[in-house]
Amino acid sequence: MPDGLFISFEGIDGSGKSTQARLLADGLRAAGREVVLTREPGGSDGAEAIRRLLVEGDPERWSAETEILLFNAARRDHVERLIRPALARGAVVITDRFADSTRVYQGVARASLRGLVDQLHDLVIGIEPDLTFVIDMDPEVALARGLARGSGEDRFEELGLGFQEALRAGFFDLALSFPERIVMINGAQTPDEVAQDVAAQLRARLDG
Ligand SMILES: Nc1ncnc2c1ncn2[C@@H]1O[C@H](COP(=O)(O)OP(=O)(O)OP(=O)(O)O)[C@@H](O)[C@H]1O
Ligand SMILES: [Mg+2]
Repeated sequence: MPDGLFISFEGIDGSGKSTQARLLADGLRAAGREVVLTREPGGSDGAEAIRRLLVEGDPERWSAETEILLFNAARRDHVERLIRPALARGAVVITDRFADSTRVYQGVARASLRGLVDQLHDLVIGIEPDLTFVIDMDPEVALARGLARGSGEDRFEELGLGFQEALRAGFFDLALSFPERIVMINGAQTPDEVAQDVAAQLRARLDG
């Protein structure tokens, strides 16, 4: 069985995750690897349908518990239909967000939910990335970038600067909890500089 590589990008809204996921995918493809570039919530047909339930509409549309179940339903489909098959044939899977986003966002919304998040993950997902890049960013800069896009998928951005500050701290704590898997990257650089840091860390992990 060939061994794929599973990489995730995490960070607060507008920190540059999508930009960096794409740049890494381009670089690895140029080096001859098969790359599956995907995102959460979504990434597979079923998960994209669930994404629309999550990212559109009133922020109060779902209770926190229901929201966690929807994220896990979407992630289960994404893992079953896209991620596991790609890893099994030896591809590099790069996902723009994965379970760490659920841990941090739901944990910040209500700390007591973290137990439910972890239990559900163990029960129905049961897979972690080999390597996770957290793009660390000043929320004020990142928020301005995110809102500037005006994508309509702005439920989370609308939660405001204080929430983004708490998310940044949440990602920082998570990186301390999983030092083998999570690498913090300084996002306050040009896209190319950030990409060079990402590539250097990936090489270091693969060689080490
Ligand atoms: N290093 C950078 N310097 C300046 N602008 C950047 C940088 N990286 C990304 N951007 C720009 O900032 C905006 C947000 O970047 P991007 O979409 O990659 O972030 P994101 O983390 O995926 O955001 P979201 O959480 O909203 O999906 C985009 O307009 C992008 O072109
Ligand atoms: Mg993005």
